[in-house]
Amino acid sequence: MKYVRYGNTGSFVSVLAFGAMTLGEKNRWNLGGVNQELSDKMVKLCIDNGINLFDTADIYDAGDAEIMLGKSLKGYRDQVMVATKVRGRMGKGINETGLSRHHISIALRKSLERLGTDWIDIYQYHGWDDFGNIDEILNSMQNFVDNGKVIYPAISNFAAWQIAEFQSRAEERGYARYESVQMNYSLLNRDIEYEVLPYLKYSKMTLLSWSPLHGGILTGKYRPGEKPPKGSRMGDRGFFFPYFDEEQGWKIVEEVVKIGEEQGVKPSQIALSWIISQGYVAIIGAKTLEQLQENIAAIEVQLTSSQKDRLNKVSGGRKMYPNWMLERQNQDRDFEKIL
Ligand SMILES: NC(=O)c1ccc[n+]([C@@H]2O[C@H](COP(=O)([O-])OP(=O)(O)OC[C@H]3O[C@@H](n4cnc5c(N)ncnc54)[C@H](OP(=O)(O)O)[C@@H]3O)[C@@H](O)[C@H]2O)c1
Repeated sequence: MKYVRYGNTGSFVSVLAFGAMTLGEKNRWNLGGVNQELSDKMVKLCIDNGINLFDTADIYDAGDAEIMLGKSLKGYRDQVMVATKVRGRMGKGINETGLSRHHISIALRKSLERLGTDWIDIYQYHGWDDFGNIDEILNSMQNFVDNGKVIYPAISNFAAWQIAEFQSRAEERGYARYESVQMNYSLLNRDIEYEVLPYLKYSKMTLLSWSPLHGGILTGKYRPGEKPPKGSRMGDRGFFFPYFDEEQGWKIVEEVVKIGEEQGVKPSQIALSWIISQGYVAIIGAKTLEQLQENIAAIEVQLTSSQKDRLNKVSGGRKMYPNWMLERQNQDRDFEKIL
């Protein structure tokens, strides 16, 4: 396994993390329905391969994914980082959602109970709350840190300005920093390269990429114009998610498959390697042990620089403003070229 420094901290996380969204027999969102026995085997396989970051959320299978992950991690708790999330709706009550102090205080207590742990290593806002009061949210999170319930505050699915707002206010007050941001990032969706990634680099935060295979589309098992096969995520759900631009997307999948053939490895391993070779963390999802094994083996893949160029070219978007102007203006700061 390979590891990267976690944010601006003294901790390290594996570049492949395990995502628990497929866990839970209610199978509420038709994502996997993985049972306890399989979850135990998956977690053991991850631990045996050096994975030390496990990601879940309160809403995954209405709490069941946290319960199952907690049980599977018995005996390994101190050697791993457990990341969970809060923001999603957990009940019908008007306040059983969002980022109010009321909701996140109750949600944290329940997540700790379900996971069977006294602390959360990485506690993530699952998304922005339009009715959230930033002071209230920041103070609540700091309170959790002060009480030892949360080690590292973190964020998911925010716009760059929203991340910056939280981070700079936390830093101004001497509160614990936000150390990672979990965003959808894959060869089929590179939107965060415009605003979020430059900010993460600037503020030394770690990217945790969710759905790095874009829900399985980057395995090459779906074909343009064909109905997704039954038993697959897209087939069972009846729609493609995360969204992607199909016109460009199928060309990207084709190139990933081609490069996989050249390397003698699976397309999924090429897609994961593209993410981790940039120093980011990919949260791998799997419905079977075989898929998990295959995805973990992506760690061995070495893309050549010409293969990386081909992947970047086929998946790139148009140049955005002000990015192209910033790049142009800052050429006069490239001292190696100037002096
Ligand atoms: N923060 C957020 O809002 C957010 C959102 C989504 C996910 N996440 C996190 O990201 C994690 C990963 O997301 P994800 O499950 O969507 O990841 P993904 O890797 O993009 O998709 C995983 C799915 O693809 C298929 N698959 C994976 N490996 C395969 C292989 N080698 N061969 C064939 N099919 C394969 C499986 O589905 P089938 O076999 O059913 O087709 C599997 O369940 C989640 O567990 C969660 O922790 C976070």
